[in-house]
Amino acid sequence: MKKLAAEKAVKHVENGMIVGLGTGSTTEYALKELGRLVAKGLSIKGIPTSLHTRRMAKALNIPLTNLEECTEIDITIDGADEVDSNLNLIKGGGGALTREKIIAYHSKREIIVVDDSKVVKALGIDFPLPVEVVKFGWTATQKSLEEFGCKVSLRTIMNDPFITDNGNYILDCDFEHIDDAEQLESDLNHIPGVVENGLFIGLVDEVIVGSKQGVKTLE
Ligand code: A5P
Repeated sequence: MKKLAAEKAVKHVENGMIVGLGTGSTTEYALKELGRLVAKGLSIKGIPTSLHTRRMAKALNIPLTNLEECTEIDITIDGADEVDSNLNLIKGGGGALTREKIIAYHSKREIIVVDDSKVVKALGIDFPLPVEVVKFGWTATQKSLEEFGCKVSLRTIMNDPFITDNGNYILDCDFEHIDDAEQLESDLNHIPGVVENGLFIGLVDEVIVGSKQGVKTLE
């Protein structure tokens, strides 16, 4: 289902485009398809949203550039952890949310690829909201986040804190429900120490959903 959605998204990529390369298992199918097309002569330049994606794109011989060199991206293909009916998202399950959001913001067209388990009625009920924070004073930042009514836990990997590509921590914020995602996105980013949060509001043009019944597009 992920592969179906990813390959459909790649059909929107045209010769000469600057392409934002998302992070996650669904996007990996898009990367592989792009690699296959590049080998057949497609000329694009990719901008990866994570070091992991950069490594994978290099291995697939996809030519790369970066946002410093190229400040406008034609199309980005990325995954998501949750998608609601307004095409707002929660992202950051892989910890790449900050670079993903920067790239989404500078993309003319942001296409999200998911399987149908990611489409939800309301954001944040099942999936904790990832928030990237600087290490300095992170427990104080955690307390400020808790004031928004969520349970906050430091993301760990093999008992050590998970470190993002930007050298920061991730705090996963478990809300019972998020009433106003747009307001919350802005409020959380006003806490000093918060680098970015995983709510993507109004950044998406199209969501391609793979399911057992086939592929459908939400616009
Ligand atoms: C990376 O930080 C995330 O935003 C991913 O794009 C998201 O977790 C989706 O990943 P999967 O495609 O692996 O589910």
